[in-house]
Amino acid sequence: MPSVLNEAVKLPCGLVLPNRLAKAALAEALAGSENTVTPTLLKAYERWGRGGWGAILTGNVQVDVNHLGQPYDPALHGEYTGKAGNEPLLARWTSYATAVQQQHGSPGIVQICHPGRQSVRFAGRRGVFASTLAPSAIPLQIGEGFLARGLAWLLFPAPREMDQADIDRVVRQFADTARLMADSGFSGVELHGAHGYLIDQFLNAKTNKRTDAYGGSAEKRAKFLLDIIHAVREVVPAGFAVGVKLNSADHNSSTFEETMTQIGLLAEAGVDFLEISGGSYENPKMLGLDAPKSERTLAREAFFLEFARETRQRFPSLVLMLTGGFRTRAGAESAVQQNVCDIIGLGRPAAIDPDLPKVFLDDGLEDEQARLVLGRVPMPALARLLPFKGVGAGLESNYYAAQIKRFAQGLRTIAPGL
Ligand SMILES: Cc1cc2nc3c(=O)[nH]c(=O)nc-3n(C[C@H](O)[C@H](O)[C@H](O)COP(=O)(O)O)c2cc1C
Repeated sequence: MPSVLNEAVKLPCGLVLPNRLAKAALAEALAGSENTVTPTLLKAYERWGRGGWGAILTGNVQVDVNHLGQPYDPALHGEYTGKAGNEPLLARWTSYATAVQQQHGSPGIVQICHPGRQSVRFAGRRGVFASTLAPSAIPLQIGEGFLARGLAWLLFPAPREMDQADIDRVVRQFADTARLMADSGFSGVELHGAHGYLIDQFLNAKTNKRTDAYGGSAEKRAKFLLDIIHAVREVVPAGFAVGVKLNSADHNSSTFEETMTQIGLLAEAGVDFLEISGGSYENPKMLGLDAPKSERTLAREAFFLEFARETRQRFPSLVLMLTGGFRTRAGAESAVQQNVCDIIGLGRPAAIDPDLPKVFLDDGLEDEQARLVLGRVPMPALARLLPFKGVGAGLESNYYAAQIKRFAQGLRTIAPGL
């Protein structure tokens, strides 16, 4: 019997994903010091484009070149007001959309992002002494003690509380970026509202202490994201997908109901899909490095399965993508068959095997063969002494970004051993 993963998924905007396997967003670090589309980036996406994915989400594209997550992120360099007069820019991004989409009809969805207070000091054109932007002026805390505070200060400048002009400008930058992606031929955008980046900073009561229209209640903290969704919708065609990546919350946490309230607002706003993830630079849960190794968790694979299940029960009409931990066809099928999610996001496995859907969707393969189980990226002994949770996540991300570069260059990827 064909796998449920082979089923097409139709988004509310009308876009059809040919199957349920999505390559999750992976920052490629391939945009060079010009922070733009490069030949190596195109090669990586041509490769993924041949992989038979139901959707290909790009790594984060920053909406403002002055605020990058890392030095080699692609970014928007200024206002984008439409096709006229922007031909060279459009040609560059059109080549990217073509690389993603031309081979097997996998829709290309660009993840667009502003890192806010998680923008690294030495990345982007802001200047090393300039502050980052955030809903409230709360510095990043990447660990306990003197060393962690020192490193946090070195890497992440103290944020400045955004005023209304800042908010209006960033909302416009998201809309400009989405418009450029639509004009370039991409099928949609995903607003990065997870992992402690700016949208998440607004949504989260720990980082948003505002007392104006953008803070104070779960609903008000969602206003920034809702404003962005509305501004994006105004400038993209009706069939263009607009999704959101969001962090989960533990069921017994004080923020659980508030997160559900915010998801309710996204459902009302009519987002095309919601991707569920978790974590931030302060607590990088998205990579599951601290996940409990109980048999139950391993059997289910996915890190945020229970949160997705609850979201599905409360908002059955939302198209859900669940990312984090999927390594086997059986695990992915089980999540869909249990009606927990519609789309399976695969991150690190996609960096090791850009053709992974061909394996998962091959009826001729037994379940034991349809899997890609990965070990942990080894941590040097010295790094283990550092008092930051982010060290392992940083090493893990660098390792997989290096694998993307390897296959883009025609080299064999190397999976970390178990
Ligand atoms: C190298 C690397 C880069 C990543 N870049 C992004 C990104 O740009 N945007 C994002 O939302 N998540 C990013 N992630 C997180 C993944 O999308 C995904 O949520 C995470 O890897 C868990 O899924 P997995 O267990 O299938 O790898 C990145 C992860 C890695 C390893």
